[in-house]
Amino acid sequence: MLSEVLLVSAPGKVILHGEHAVVHGKVALAVSLNLRTFLRLQPHSNGKVDLSLPNIGIKRAWDVARLQSLDASFLEQGDVTTPTSEQVEKLKEVAGLPDDCAVTERLAVLAFLYLYLSICRKQRALPSLDIVVWSELPPGAGLGSSAAYSVCLAAALLTVCEEIPNPLKDGDCVNRWTKEDLELINKWAFQGERMIHGNPSGVDNAVSTWGGALRYHQGKISSLKRSPALQILLTNTKVPRNTRALVAGVRNRLLKFPEIVAPLLTSIDAISLECERVLGEMGEAPAPEQYVVLEELIDMNQHHLNALGVGHASLDQLCQVTRARGLHSKLTGAGGGGCGITLLKPGLEQPEVEATKQALTSCGFDCLETSIGAPGVSIHSATSLDSRVQQALDGL
Ligand code: PMV
Repeated sequence: MLSEVLLVSAPGKVILHGEHAVVHGKVALAVSLNLRTFLRLQPHSNGKVDLSLPNIGIKRAWDVARLQSLDASFLEQGDVTTPTSEQVEKLKEVAGLPDDCAVTERLAVLAFLYLYLSICRKQRALPSLDIVVWSELPPGAGLGSSAAYSVCLAAALLTVCEEIPNPLKDGDCVNRWTKEDLELINKWAFQGERMIHGNPSGVDNAVSTWGGALRYHQGKISSLKRSPALQILLTNTKVPRNTRALVAGVRNRLLKFPEIVAPLLTSIDAISLECERVLGEMGEAPAPEQYVVLEELIDMNQHHLNALGVGHASLDQLCQVTRARGLHSKLTGAGGGGCGITLLKPGLEQPEVEATKQALTSCGFDCLETSIGAPGVSIHSATSLDSRVQQALDGL
């Protein structure tokens, strides 16, 4: 067991193209979002496992001795497996959560205990740990916050138990694990996601683990070999959406107007493929005309998504406000409100970006400048984290 403090971060995600079409067997492109979740793990010797999630006001502690005395054989189902409903029930008992506990708290705690007990159980004695997880990602906005949480937990627990080596060497500010180690992190993170979401596609945890851009097609996930980091505005309209109802709406429209809707889905598929091709070509020094193609693809897809019935007046407003400044936006994820992305071309003056953010904020939206295509799960030295993150992890 390692004795040093570990600082791990993992990114969120946005869907660049292919939302909804992916449900009907088309390609989707998901990209990492450089709004990250940070985890600090400190081994300690007070015989407790502490979990603190300051974003949602959770602080819980369990006695290691009590956890150790549990018959954890209910977790024994091969190496990396799907949590069964029996396991979930047992974990609820172990967690000792009150009946009126909020859903987010219950799921976050269960995912933690599942990963802690499953990964650390191979140790001679369960470790006493203090874990704090803080995120820049808003929860429940379709930005992969639960996947980033599971990825951080899996990476930190596997590392502290020496199932994978700590890749951070003396003098490093930040480093990443090898491909094989990332595969193991991703497998366990998927288990955490299953605990939270039941039957997730696995895209969110894959993007958070690998970073960059991923292609998702009929259950197969592959990483794009080369993809540039692109500056974007991420706008949260704060209009609540119901993914299930929106997905059902598209299905109904497809059944009602197959000749009209099927070609839209085929066209969205072609947009994803064209975007994949252009991203692959952009490399280190993207050319202005490549940005123009990306903008055209964004506009066309946004129109298609409107035609599928997943637009919203708030998203129209986002597109109009940014269009008036020569910028191009589309919804990301389920639509019907939620979040949108706006591509920022290189060379755009900062005052112009600020004015656009201001205009969106005055529509009542939350708007952040960030990037897509950022690195996946990473391990940091204490001195390399900015003071804002340090303070958040310190609960200040
Ligand atoms: O809003 P998100 O990130 O959960 O994305 C939903 C994406 C859909 O294509 C609309 C649904 C799905 O399961 O792929």
